[in-house]
Amino acid sequence: MTTGYTVEQLRAAAADAVRAPSLHNSQPWRFRLVDGGIELAVDPRRRLPATDPSGWGARTSCGAALFNLRLALAVAGTPATVRLRPYPGDPDVVARLVPDVPRRPTPTEQSLYGAIARRFSNRAPFWPDPVPADARWRLGEAARAEQCWLELVIGTTAVNAFAEIARSAHRVLERDPAYVTERTRWIRSEPSPDGVPTAAGGPQSEPQDLLPQRGFGGRNRAPGRDFEPEPLVAVLGSSGNTTTDQIVAGEALQRVLLTATDAGLAVSMLSQPIEVPAAREALRLSLGRFGTPQMVMRIGFGQPGRTTPRRPIDDVLDLPVVR
Ligand SMILES: Cc1cc2nc3c(=O)[nH]c(=O)nc-3n(C[C@H](O)[C@H](O)[C@H](O)COP(=O)(O)O)c2cc1C
Repeated sequence: MTTGYTVEQLRAAAADAVRAPSLHNSQPWRFRLVDGGIELAVDPRRRLPATDPSGWGARTSCGAALFNLRLALAVAGTPATVRLRPYPGDPDVVARLVPDVPRRPTPTEQSLYGAIARRFSNRAPFWPDPVPADARWRLGEAARAEQCWLELVIGTTAVNAFAEIARSAHRVLERDPAYVTERTRWIRSEPSPDGVPTAAGGPQSEPQDLLPQRGFGGRNRAPGRDFEPEPLVAVLGSSGNTTTDQIVAGEALQRVLLTATDAGLAVSMLSQPIEVPAAREALRLSLGRFGTPQMVMRIGFGQPGRTTPRRPIDDVLDLPVVR
């Protein structure tokens, strides 16, 4: 039994943690070692005030990074016991991880860990082939394993009803100049360690598109290269909507994304209906289920793509401190 994590263990696990998705690739996280425990905190300097005034996006992103951190430590044979929001007086600290009894990683941990470096947001059209039933089941199990639920929106009527909610949320957001300015500020047409590269931004929207694409300056679309006619839309939700619930939802999000990657599936996220309170409520009512929607995903078979850059690891580490 080790007494605490080392700086080398922190550095290695954080390198995997930062591969997590984040709102506009803002990477709103910091990692540090305090008395042998690894702590993950929201970086308040990297919040998106216009897009994410409540901090939901930053907490969800940090929750996703936390899931990678847990996996990396488990696969290294040094699994962690996790305490969420360990300091009530310091709500930015998302989690504290201390060494648990060393053990071998499970096959699931190994395959999910292997998917970390391959996962990326695929905003391009997917093939029309349906996602097989066993993969759908695995995705639901992934959410449940992290105390969340995953509702698949099935059938033309339900998908159209969802699309209407998503498009109206998109319109509300796009009418806000501060939101538009902030979104535009995170688009990158030159190599950059953060933000969304135009090459990853997906194709330009067209009037016939069913789902609203957040505009990241993507390229024009080849003629006839439409989005899949009936996308598989999945809504991830948690039982409540406290700050802790949002961190847990981030962990579940990353487990679902890695499970999809491991199953050979592509995913893009669309969170406009989560960010507009009236749309989120309409979505919740349309699903007819208990709890709070925390993220929406489009899942399918995609073309190959590339991962997006991250900041150097030294930019997100704080040196050891004694609390
Ligand atoms: C909370 C959250 C909300 C997101 N919302 C959207 C969205 O509405 N549209 C979109 O295209 N991508 C969305 N993303 C994906 C991020 O833009 C993406 O993770 C980031 O640019 C890094 O790229 P990667 O996922 O390829 O690593 C979201 C991600 C998170 C964590």
